[in-house]
Amino acid sequence: TPIRLVDYLPPSHLVDSVALTFRLHPQATRVLSQVCLRPNPARPGRHDLRLDGEALRLIGAAVDGVPIAAMPDETGLTLPASSLPDGPFTFTAEVEIAPEANTALEGLYMSRGMYCTQCEAEGFRKITFYPDRPDVMAPFRVRIESDLPVLLSNGNEVANGPGWAEWHDPWPKPAYLFALVAGDLVAHSAGFTTMSGRDVALNIWVRPGDEARCGYAMDSLIRSMKWDEDVYGREYDLDVFNIVAVDDFNMGAMENKGLNIFNSKYVLALPETATDDDFARIEAIIAHEYFHNWTGNRITCRDWFQLCLKEGLTVFRDQQFSSDMRSAAVKRIEDVLTLRARQFREDDGPLAHPVRPEEYIEINNFYTATVYEKGAELIGMLKRLVGDKGYAKALDLYFRRHDGQAATIEDWLAVFEDATGRDLSRFKLWYSEAGTPRLKVTDDFRDGRFSLHVEQVNLPTPGQPDKHPKVIPIAVGLLNPNGDEVVPTTVLELTETRQSFHFDGLAARPVPSILRGFSAPVVLERATTPEERAFLLAHDTDPFNKWEAGRALAKEVLARMVTDGAQPGPDWLDALARVALDEALDPAFRALALRLPGEDDMAQTLHAAGHVPDPDRIHAARQRMAAALAERLDPALPGLIDALAEPGPFTPEARAAGRRALRLAALGLMTRRDGGARAAAVFRAANNMTEEVGALSCLLDVGRGQEELALFESRWGRDRLVMDKWFTLQILHAAPAEAAAKVDRLTAHPDFDWKNPNRFRAVIGALSANHAGFHHASGAGYRVLADWLIRLDPLNPQTAARMSTAFETRARYDADRQALMADQLDRILAAPALSRDLAEMAGRMRRG
Ligand code: ARG
Ligand code: ZN
Repeated sequence: TPIRLVDYLPPSHLVDSVALTFRLHPQATRVLSQVCLRPNPARPGRHDLRLDGEALRLIGAAVDGVPIAAMPDETGLTLPASSLPDGPFTFTAEVEIAPEANTALEGLYMSRGMYCTQCEAEGFRKITFYPDRPDVMAPFRVRIESDLPVLLSNGNEVANGPGWAEWHDPWPKPAYLFALVAGDLVAHSAGFTTMSGRDVALNIWVRPGDEARCGYAMDSLIRSMKWDEDVYGREYDLDVFNIVAVDDFNMGAMENKGLNIFNSKYVLALPETATDDDFARIEAIIAHEYFHNWTGNRITCRDWFQLCLKEGLTVFRDQQFSSDMRSAAVKRIEDVLTLRARQFREDDGPLAHPVRPEEYIEINNFYTATVYEKGAELIGMLKRLVGDKGYAKALDLYFRRHDGQAATIEDWLAVFEDATGRDLSRFKLWYSEAGTPRLKVTDDFRDGRFSLHVEQVNLPTPGQPDKHPKVIPIAVGLLNPNGDEVVPTTVLELTETRQSFHFDGLAARPVPSILRGFSAPVVLERATTPEERAFLLAHDTDPFNKWEAGRALAKEVLARMVTDGAQPGPDWLDALARVALDEALDPAFRALALRLPGEDDMAQTLHAAGHVPDPDRIHAARQRMAAALAERLDPALPGLIDALAEPGPFTPEARAAGRRALRLAALGLMTRRDGGARAAAVFRAANNMTEEVGALSCLLDVGRGQEELALFESRWGRDRLVMDKWFTLQILHAAPAEAAAKVDRLTAHPDFDWKNPNRFRAVIGALSANHAGFHHASGAGYRVLADWLIRLDPLNPQTAARMSTAFETRARYDADRQALMADQLDRILAAPALSRDLAEMAGRMRRG
């Protein structure tokens, strides 16, 4: 039965403090808890106390020291109102849990001999009996008993001795922010002095041997701390900030108060082992988790429906940080690429849901692109609507008014209304209605007046047949025919279904640049000539729309290649070549312009245009497109590859990364001309993982690289994170008819450890990212994915459920493929003891 937002009730009891003792043991850890509670004045009358608890062996419990005969059920323990004192009281309990047997990686579990926790969203109930909901906040005191050398929890360490340590976190927090780590770890340490002069010890804890790989993460952390002070006035609030890298982790990372726990993939990096993309992701995720200290921890969510309150805002903040550290234009383009690939796709299928969902069965299924990435877009729109000053005022008020609270989207919007005087009741629809609005734009020009006529279409999504017009900020600029900007960026506010906007006093019909900076998460539909797109690609002053013009052009060309078997015309090739070779442009931008539209993206676009996408034809057309581009650029490629070689040692910063990206794009094209000679040379000469993996990908793309793969394996066979890449590359670049068989072969490899989420994703996740391979007409891709999901689900339901979203695009394809996918969803749904997680996902996708 689903949990509903409308059923929210404040907690019956509040917690004043918590004290926990952990006697760690792999098979039998004892957890002693002392929870000081009192009735919640917001819920007058006497109430039962419900404590959440799952898979706990209860040893004993007492209220105010008097033992109680408590009988837990499957999900917790109820203490009847009649048995509870009127005022404050203390609940104590002792439970036993088995971290070594915890394969779900939720609660307290073990990863290669180290104890660690993941409590968001509802993992704390697998540790002890507790009101496990985010609106119950309390200070925690934690004692850890273990022979392991490093014992960590939230807050500051207050005492330790041989075999034990005690931690105290003074900041009231919900249980989902609790964390504990114990292991044989070493620290890479540094310090930071906050703006008010507090000295903070910074530690990144890793396995012995990995300490040399923490430099970039530490540098990112220090820059994040400084940036949050400079830009948001937010200061860190404890004496120590610990980060721990864990090899077995379901997600990216977790913002536990004072003790962030990370998937080691997003901490450990050396030039030889990590690519430029890895470095950029580490920087972004370190920042993201650090920024949660204010947006998430000091101010948390009242309930899980409000998840976007912390996640949307924190993603927005980490995006701002990355664009300040790197190129803002490139960052925006990359973020929009991700948004379209993941969130638009989600919005377009059976899993569509509002940024603030109104019901769920399993909350872990709602850590989605919609909550995170679209949630961040909503913040960006708000900022554009109220302006930078209005945004700064609103955020100051938010931190002042809600510090220490568990807040809601209503609270968030009220802060903007109170700080700026703007009515946001219509804007709020963005939080409650799912789906991607479509903007249909036409224009006319008469007597010096240029008019844009805009219509918004909000199509139905599952469970939401009727939609309302949204408030849509549309950033627009106008260029005159010789390429000069005559009207700089202005924000039009669309509030109705149809509206016209006028620009007067123009000497000639201008070329409009619409939705600059991608000012709203919408699909722009406007009939434009290829000449106009090429004009904007050459002249637009807005870097996002400059790129967008080239992108749209490429997608139109590719769509025709798929549907009519056409060849790309010289105009497109020339326009793209001009950008690719324009030395005045940022190499990273040129690399992005050269990146061809992805196959899944094309399938989505063709489907939206009323076609039934054929994955084989899309794949073949994209190959032909790359070949044509390679032919057009052929004479320039060797010079480009030479000129972009970075002399000297590797540096991870954006400028050098951009040059490497362009160089590898050129290398990919050259590989289609020279049969791989140059790529093989780059592979052998590489002194960094970006070029090593980049050159290898070029070779695999043209059906070569077997020798290099073997070399790579012998070089990196002992390095887990690097070997993940070795697995992924082979699946990602497998020919469509061979992808499923490749999965069979690689899952039989002795290093395929399917219980490790990174390795599982490296192989099975890569299959769903190989569009033509996954959707091969034989159905083998669907079958092998379903096989592995059914196998993983009993051990790790969270990761299985997440990976099942490969089936969310079913409705796009032909009847045969739809039936094949439906068969696999039925097989999943028929699996014995199917988890709530996977049952919810497969059920929603099966219903369509
Ligand atoms: N709050 C974490 C982050 O955004 C994500 C943790 C989600 N974990 C989960 N099991 N649902 O950084
Ligand atoms: Zn987050």
